[in-house]
This record gives sequence, structure tokens and C-alpha cells, in this order.
Amino acid sequence: MPMLRSGAKPEDRLAVRRLVASTGFFSASEEEIAVELVDDALAKGEVASGYRFIFAEDAGQPVGYVCFGPIAGTEASHDLYWIVVDNTRRGRGVGRFLEQACAEAVRGLGGRRIYVDTSSRDQYAPTRAFYLACGYREAARLDDFYAAGDGKVIFVKSLD
Ligand SMILES: CC(C)(COP(=O)(O)OP(=O)(O)OC[C@H]1O[C@@H](n2cnc3c(N)ncnc32)[C@H](O)[C@@H]1OP(=O)(O)O)[C@@H](O)C(=O)NCCC(=O)NCCS
Repeated sequence: MPMLRSGAKPEDRLAVRRLVASTGFFSASEEEIAVELVDDALAKGEVASGYRFIFAEDAGQPVGYVCFGPIAGTEASHDLYWIVVDNTRRGRGVGRFLEQACAEAVRGLGGRRIYVDTSSRDQYAPTRAFYLACGYREAARLDDFYAAGDGKVIFVKSLD
């Protein structure tokens, strides 16, 4: 299994762009948003930005990452903003490893719930299966949220 590294470094801007692009799942604007979260964490620090990163690295090269953070205004709820594994490494346990590290970190911060949003489109069926496999349950489904026929599915994992 790859090594885990917490916290974002300047060179992670490129790594995140590369990893997100490798999936073929995300639009150019979504790719920009992923990099902006790294920028925010680098500029303000992970506490002030609210964006925490854990990278999975193989021989010093990021092969996946997870970005998460506390949801402002809640007692102990956290958001899992992004989890991405390099396209050539998918299906080999890296995602599960990253999710476990994220859940451990959230627990360590006193968090009790992790929320994650995804799309209801067929393309995301493996992603939804992944969250279920990691102990999340579907908490809500908002039809036509992203676009007509493209709903938002909200999953939650309880750490109680
Ligand atoms: C979703 C993602 C992060 C999962 O990471 P991964 O390393 O491929 O997943 P893992 O190998 O750790 O899988 C863990 C479990 O999830 C489930 N799972 C993973 N991929 C699956 C697939 N394609 N179909 C069905 N179930 C799947 C399985 O139960 C698996 O356990 P198993 O291998 O013991 O059967 C990764 O595939 C990815 O980057 N996908 C594209 C981007 C994305 O959708 N990100 C999430 C939205 S931000």
C-alpha cells in the first residue's frame, strides 16, 4: 500500500490537477475547483481554510488524495470534499485506505459525521458503491439538483 502524507505542499497543485484529470470524471471547471482548495489550504493553512489533505504516495509520487474538513456552523459534522485515485491505480484498495485515514483524522478532530455528495448519474455508480463499501449510507437524494436527470446523492458515515 502507498505511504500516507498529511497536508498540502506547493507541488501538490500539479499533482491534484493530474490526479483529477486522470479520472476522466470531472469537467475543467471542477478541476479548477480542486486546485483552488489546495491554493486555499496553502495560503491560509488547513485550519483557517477548513481544507485538510491526505495524500497517498508511491515512491514519493501522489497516487491519490482525499480533501475534507469541518462544516462551519455544525457541532461535529465534516465534509469529504474530494477523494480521487489515479486512474491506473483504481480498484486496488487505495481509495479505501485514504477514506480510512480521513475517518481516523476526523475522529481525532472530534468529528462524528462525515458527509459526501455525489451524482446520481450512472457514471457515478462505482463511486456510490465505493461509499457504501466504506460504511456510508445514503441519507438524501435531491432529484435534478445538478441538471435535469442529474440528482445529488448525499451519503453519511457515522463515527459514533
Ligand atoms: C471512487 C474512488 C476514489 C475509489 O477508490 P479505489 O481505490 O478505486 O477503490 P478501492 O479499490 O479502495 O475500493 C474499495 C471498495 O469500494 C468498492 N468499489 C470500488 N470501485 C468499485 C467499482 N468500480 N464498482 C463497484 N464497487 C467498487 C468495492 O466494494 C471495493 O472493495 P473491494 O475491492 O474489496 O471489493 C476511485 O475509484 C476514483 O478516483 N474514482 C473517480 C473519481 C471519483 O468518483 N471520486 C469520488 C467523487 S469526489
